[in-house]
Amino acid sequence: MTCKSIAALLCLLGGITGACLARAQQSAAEAPAGFDTPTLAANPGSQSTSNGIAEPPGDTYALDQQIYELVHDVSTGLGPVYNGRACAECHQNPVSGGASQFTELRAGHRDASGMFVNPIVPIDDGAAGITGRSIIDDRALIPQAQEHVPATETVRAFRAALNTLGDGFVEAIDDQTLLAIGAQQPGVSQGRIHGEAIEVPVLEAPGQTRVGRFGWKDQHSSLLSFIGDAYLNEMGVTNRLRPKDATTIGKTTSDPEDVPDALGLADIDHFAEFVRGTKVPPRDAVLAACFAALGSRAARSSSPCPGSDCCSSSSFRSSSFSRSRFPISISRFRRISLCWNGRPRTSFPSSSTSTITRSCSPTRCISTRF
Ligand code: HEC
Repeated sequence: MTCKSIAALLCLLGGITGACLARAQQSAAEAPAGFDTPTLAANPGSQSTSNGIAEPPGDTYALDQQIYELVHDVSTGLGPVYNGRACAECHQNPVSGGASQFTELRAGHRDASGMFVNPIVPIDDGAAGITGRSIIDDRALIPQAQEHVPATETVRAFRAALNTLGDGFVEAIDDQTLLAIGAQQPGVSQGRIHGEAIEVPVLEAPGQTRVGRFGWKDQHSSLLSFIGDAYLNEMGVTNRLRPKDATTIGKTTSDPEDVPDALGLADIDHFAEFVRGTKVPPRDAVLAACFAALGSRAARSSSPCPGSDCCSSSSFRSSSFSRSRFPISISRFRRISLCWNGRPRTSFPSSSTSTITRSCSPTRCISTRF
């Protein structure tokens, strides 16, 4: 099975998840939980509390959030092509850093051997093209830069904006933990599930790779990498990790557009601080009971558990959370259907009014992953 990731597979393999929770409960501390980054029009960030992560010298969590919510225009590096004007435009339900209904378009086609090929998207009435990527930006600073997907690009998909609350804890999970979960899945699922981990480059540590865990395709393994990509792909703001725009048509600023401030921090550093400082979505009592039951069921098949998680000691800065944090939690924000061996589970929990909407979900599967 080559789907989203081992982390997402936890969603399908509720039994393993439950067992992990049960075992981890004995040794791991709960991650701080709460929707505590309200989006405020006045004094943004002033009522927010972080999970306690240390701030760089001179920085504050409120400042990180202000920059995350800042609405950009052409003078601050927006475009030439973009999808949104602020991180919080898409990541804001119910608070800054959450998910939203926002979807973005990916397109391409298959070659003769069935391999996916990125599109050439003509702009400026065909005088230029955007190549080398599948993301299509819906907006442009000037009409000449507007992307239109050619009819030849027959593979199209929408990807919804993901939740980032608590992602620092996901970043802190050691590769070996994810690999171990994948390795024992066939045993506890009678061969039905086997998570496939992919190694992806760490943009801020050239030459290094790590198990991917962020994005719908697990395309990134560190928050800073994802965020450097997002600043360019979603907002058209070039930065030290992604220093070149998709097109120069309509461009008036010089690269990189994101430069360090008086604290020595670029916007992407503030974004990473903000996301790493968010708390995980709170647990839901119904779902916790659901997981507990699944856990005891899976425990009978004695599935191993990731137990403690820690940062790997690589040269890039991973979230510096201590060992023994929960890799998984149960959110009350959104509930998705839990499949058991590929089928929606219909008999659990018995108190449910609807087993589709009242079901289990680990943190990595919350919100719009349905
Ligand atoms: C136009 C909407 C939009 C904007 C603006 C936007 N994002 Fe996203 N974000 C998305 C979508 C859609 C995804 C899923 C993308 C994918 O996997 O292909 C995503 C995914 C992410 C993820 C991965 C979350 C996970 O757990 O897998 C992070 C981190 C993230 N965004 C951070 C940011 C930051 C920081 C900014 C501002 C620089 C930003 N995003 C701006 C829509 C947006």
